[in-house]
Amino acid sequence: MRTPRPLIAGNWKMNLSVTEGAALATDILSRLPGLPSAEVLLLPPFTCLSAVGAALLADSRVALGAQNCHWAESGAVTGEISASMLSGLCQYVLVGHSERRHLFHETDAIVRTKLESVLKADLCPILAVGETDEERRAGLTAEVLTRQARAGLLGLTHEEVCRCTVAYEPVWAIGSGAAADFTDIGEAARILRLVIEQAARGEGYGVRILYGGSVTAESAPSLLGVEGIAGALVGGASLRAADFCGIVAASDR
Ligand code: PGA
Repeated sequence: MRTPRPLIAGNWKMNLSVTEGAALATDILSRLPGLPSAEVLLLPPFTCLSAVGAALLADSRVALGAQNCHWAESGAVTGEISASMLSGLCQYVLVGHSERRHLFHETDAIVRTKLESVLKADLCPILAVGETDEERRAGLTAEVLTRQARAGLLGLTHEEVCRCTVAYEPVWAIGSGAAADFTDIGEAARILRLVIEQAARGEGYGVRILYGGSVTAESAPSLLGVEGIAGALVGGASLRAADFCGIVAASDR
């Protein structure tokens, strides 16, 4: 099977002022290998999108994305940002991150409406899925991943599915310092690929599956080598330019 170009995405979460965000983007740009084989993506907070975009100087090696959006296009929803408001500011939007699912009680149905709004705004969704520790211990990983991925992807058009990226992020591995086991990641990728192929009607090979959860520059070479994985969604390490660029460099090996 042809493998898609890897994507290394840095999720800055709720960190950094506008000035700090722009400085980090500049630092990352200066440390990037000339022409990395991976596509690089920064997901700063909404407040930093403009400044980070400006700091990136339209460098074609680095794309920009948002960490979340509201599902409606506009309206009386105080404090929210819609996907259509993000268009022109960035190319990607992350939906379904486990911190959104768990801290803000976002259900599969909510994540789906957000993903559809991202597609409608002509942006590319990154759908995050992953089992909790409790679900893993109960042997429910395959069921949970299949349910979350189906809820996100089934019923979309072929073109829409092909615009998506799926990120496997076991909830228990996020911020824990211990990434998931390679065999488990490979199995998760196999399960997710089945849903992607079903949703894309057999031609979804271009849809990338990322791994996320305690990825570091040290663990990246092996994690990125797991069969079926085409990149990483990086949290903590993406706030340090040297570490993040080390992960990008790992995709060149
Ligand atoms: P982490 O976070 O790399 O800090 O574990 C990953 C994520 O939440 O996307």
